[in-house]
Amino acid sequence: MNDIDPNLFSCFAIDGHTRLLGVIGHPVAHSLSPAMHNLALDALKLNYRYLPFPVAPEHLHELVVGLKAVGCAGFNITIPHKETIIRCIGGVGAEARWIGAVNTVTLGQDGRFWGYNTDAAGFMAALDEVYQPTKARPNVILMGAGGAAKAVVAGLLLAGEWGRITVVNRTAERAHRLLDDLMRPELLDEVGFYKNDVQLPEVEAISLKEAADLPLERCDLLVNTTSVGLNGEGSLGIDLDRLPEEAFIYDIVYSPLETPLLKEARIRGLAGANGLGMLIHQGALAFRIWTGEEMPVDMVRNHLRRLVGGI
Ligand code: ATR
Repeated sequence: MNDIDPNLFSCFAIDGHTRLLGVIGHPVAHSLSPAMHNLALDALKLNYRYLPFPVAPEHLHELVVGLKAVGCAGFNITIPHKETIIRCIGGVGAEARWIGAVNTVTLGQDGRFWGYNTDAAGFMAALDEVYQPTKARPNVILMGAGGAAKAVVAGLLLAGEWGRITVVNRTAERAHRLLDDLMRPELLDEVGFYKNDVQLPEVEAISLKEAADLPLERCDLLVNTTSVGLNGEGSLGIDLDRLPEEAFIYDIVYSPLETPLLKEARIRGLAGANGLGMLIHQGALAFRIWTGEEMPVDMVRNHLRRLVGGI
């Protein structure tokens, strides 16, 4: 045992002071968050370990009580618990209340678990890295109206620089509900839109069938938040040939690294990015909430690219 460098094997560094972090989901085995956070914790020599907690909905409350009892420092929450977790914790931040979903929980100074949403800001941080609008108040078409779509639209609204946001979904009713929920004046007020004079874009919700009539020539940014393209299959049903050549495509799917949508975009000479950046930045914001430290995002990105790409 003497010839093994303990710094290379972080489990040897677990001691009586090690703090617990983790991710709760059902299922959770596919999550890249343990790899991401443990690498960052190792790199910064922080005495925490991050574990996956696969938990069915009927046991969520029990788990949260148990995590509190063992002094867990915080955790992420993923499908299907992002909404129901709100009922199991002490309180939620204004943005998480607005979005109606929590992805990050931290143990507060008051001994209570507090919930936040880092998906919205994580998406914007990732978009900022890869996309610079070429004109004022660009137009966005966003595909999908699920939980991920809501956080992405919230991020776009907070950035306050868009002309129009069009939410397109197979089920139009869901797209209407998403916008109705996010545009409620009392919630916008609570998040600070009116105080900070954030300029709201025009918003509209339409069905995928109606999307054939959209003026795609005026689309500057196309964001896919649907699960279409996951595992390399499926097509969004949007005619990319009608997009202007400077349009940018952001696909929140990251497996495969070149999704079918990004492949179609590349063939047409359109620039785009996959969702690995969003995954990393939502994680980096959670990491900062728990540890007060900055995640080494470039190191994490290289590691996750290798994991997802199988290289
Ligand atoms: P998440 O929380 O990850 O966003 P979700 O709430 O299940 O997941 O939402 C998945 C999104 O992908 C929805 O917008 C869904 O459309 P519907 O609301 O009509 O179900 C969309 N989606 C999934 N499969 C699709 C497909 N084959 N074609 C078009 N949209 C699809």
